[in-house]
Amino acid sequence: MTAPVISVRELRVGFGAADVLRGLTLDVLGGEILGVVGGSGAGKSVLLRAIIGLVPLRAGTIEVLGTKMSSATDAQKRAIERRWGVLFQQGALFSSLTALQNVQFPMREYMQLSERMLGEMAVAKLEMVGLHADDGRKLPSELSGGMTKRVALARALALDPDIVFLDEPTSGLDPISASGFDQLIRTLQQTLGLTVFMVTHDQDSLSTVCDRIAALAGGQVVALGTLEAMQASRHPWVEAYFKGRRR
Ligand SMILES: Nc1ncnc2c1ncn2[C@@H]1O[C@H](COP(=O)(O)OP(=O)(O)OP(=O)(O)O)[C@@H](O)[C@H]1O
Ligand SMILES: [Mg+2]
Repeated sequence: MTAPVISVRELRVGFGAADVLRGLTLDVLGGEILGVVGGSGAGKSVLLRAIIGLVPLRAGTIEVLGTKMSSATDAQKRAIERRWGVLFQQGALFSSLTALQNVQFPMREYMQLSERMLGEMAVAKLEMVGLHADDGRKLPSELSGGMTKRVALARALALDPDIVFLDEPTSGLDPISASGFDQLIRTLQQTLGLTVFMVTHDQDSLSTVCDRIAALAGGQVVALGTLEAMQASRHPWVEAYFKGRRR
């Protein structure tokens, strides 16, 4: 863990009259798995979407991999976008494409590759997340919940990213599948040297895979640090959330 790869400063994001994020400041360090927690509607997904440029900022700055996104040229933005992968909260596989075609989608957009290379690389990504090449032929409707998450992860890894954004990657999975998925994220992070920004409600994920945790409330980061730091926080929401969760 070294310098920040994402620096968010005094970020304000809102819709209509209300601000969801109110002067939020946060660093994500290179090579860490940062868990982001907060009540439903606290703005976790909005923060993720703001960082990847999907919602406009009302104030503040976001720097990713040394580039200030608001003043970057389109070419600079595209170069940065190519270095991250995203697993969205809402399933987000294309339902009419097979698993393999879903993984190939970002490759087609950003890489000039032959069909044969595309096929081989996408199969390699599926295998990297513990799926079989045959699973690549299935449509999203033919995949289990856990397999769907793995295909979405394989797609997030399609471009060999430096940063992976995961929004509730284990939600809807049974505890054993969830723990398998956590292990997978940890292994990939270690072998590929990824920086991981992971929104999660999963207490097990927080305690087993996250290096640090950021708690969001009132549109700001109200606690930041290890699980122990969370348990020591006197912020009411953080205290309630982590109460009785000591292992
Ligand atoms: N595109 C949008 N237009 C209007 N309001 C939005 C939009 N996106 C998010 N919001 C609002 O911003 C607030 C934060 O939403 P967000 O999705 O970030 O919550 P969250 O912390 O991810 O919650 P959950 O844990 O339920 O996923 C909510 O009040 C939501 O209604
Ligand atoms: Mg969300």
